[in-house]
Amino acid sequence: MHNHLDAKAVVRALSPDEPVICNRPHAAERAARFFVEKFPGKAMYAVKANPSPDLLRILWGAGVTHYDVASITEVRMVREILPEAVLCFMHPVKTKSAVAEAYRLHGVRTFSLDTHEELQKVVEATTGEDGHAAQDLNLLVRLRVSSEHSELSLAAKFGIDLADAAPLLRAVRQHCDALGICFHVGSQAMTPFAYVQALERVRAAIVEAAVTVDIIDVGGGFPSSYPGMEPPPLEDYFALIHRHFEALPISYSAELWAEPGRALCAEYSSIIVKVEKRRGDELYINDGAYGALFDAAHIDWRFPVRALEEDLSRPPAEFAFYGPTCDDADYMKGPFMLPADIQAGDYIEIGMLGAYGAAMKTRFNGFGGAEAVIVTDEPMASLYTGERVDPRSSDNVVSLR
Ligand SMILES: Cc1ncc(COP(=O)(O)O)c(C=O)c1O
Repeated sequence: MHNHLDAKAVVRALSPDEPVICNRPHAAERAARFFVEKFPGKAMYAVKANPSPDLLRILWGAGVTHYDVASITEVRMVREILPEAVLCFMHPVKTKSAVAEAYRLHGVRTFSLDTHEELQKVVEATTGEDGHAAQDLNLLVRLRVSSEHSELSLAAKFGIDLADAAPLLRAVRQHCDALGICFHVGSQAMTPFAYVQALERVRAAIVEAAVTVDIIDVGGGFPSSYPGMEPPPLEDYFALIHRHFEALPISYSAELWAEPGRALCAEYSSIIVKVEKRRGDELYINDGAYGALFDAAHIDWRFPVRALEEDLSRPPAEFAFYGPTCDDADYMKGPFMLPADIQAGDYIEIGMLGAYGAAMKTRFNGFGGAEAVIVTDEPMASLYTGERVDPRSSDNVVSLR
């Protein structure tokens, strides 16, 4: 991968007709060190956010030793790239063969589940040929919690309701070495109180089940910074989570875990796109809904943008984007603020695409190719540069939502 100073230097050097992914290893490394040093427990990387082997090596180098994997393909891939990593299979619905392969071939000991059927599956898949049940399982019950404070809900699909959790927790306790409770507050949680609320539900589940719990896993959801979605400092999240974890009725030696995806890699990548056509306030660009801009198209996520031409002089105006494929759905309404005189042939950098962006590219319609380069400038926004935003912002966010 070639090194460049920034996206402008890439355009000068390559005049690319295809999109170019700009990776910032220093930004991913900084985010990882921040979590490793400041999160008051074990932070494991949620591989789904961006499974790039280069990124995995950067995170490992920065001290991230645990990885949340959600499919057997992710298990195999991470095991090959990072042979010593601790892998935790945190998808609550797995095939029996995936559990068996993960346990027997790849050393996975941690699994999440949210039903009695899944417990049965995990127990059967890990029982030895001699009929002896595994004695070394860490089993985490996924509790359904609210996503009301998050930009992307994860409340519907997985998680057992609090009202049904006690019998499952008691059943799981019989089959594991360590019993955990995990949850996901939804992605891009805009206030730390999302975790406080969820931990209160965890408390209720523990009290009701009257079991000893060894692991509390607060999942992902840690935010990054996007236009109109500037969260409070991550230290606020960590402090509140720590305080409320400490107050839970759990075993003395209980561990606190988290599964950040977005927060560890959003700053890692941006993408350079070329404007192929302009129609009023719509720009036809060469990446889109089936490429790195899935979230911009499907959930109207607003990513930061900047024009890469030196000679654009008009003040910013609002634009929408069309991607390169032939269907109307390849549309990103934005609005994206760019100089009003931007035109076909110009280049744009779209930032903060390291999480659920660059990793989502498909080859639909023959598009989706992209060269990757390394750039050394700062990402368009960062939660890790040490500049605290307004200290009252956490309270503001809570009261506004
Ligand atoms: C089980 C689990 N853990 C962690 C994550 C990562 O979430 P985020 O990127 O919001 O941190 C996800 C995302 O879908 C998930 O499903």
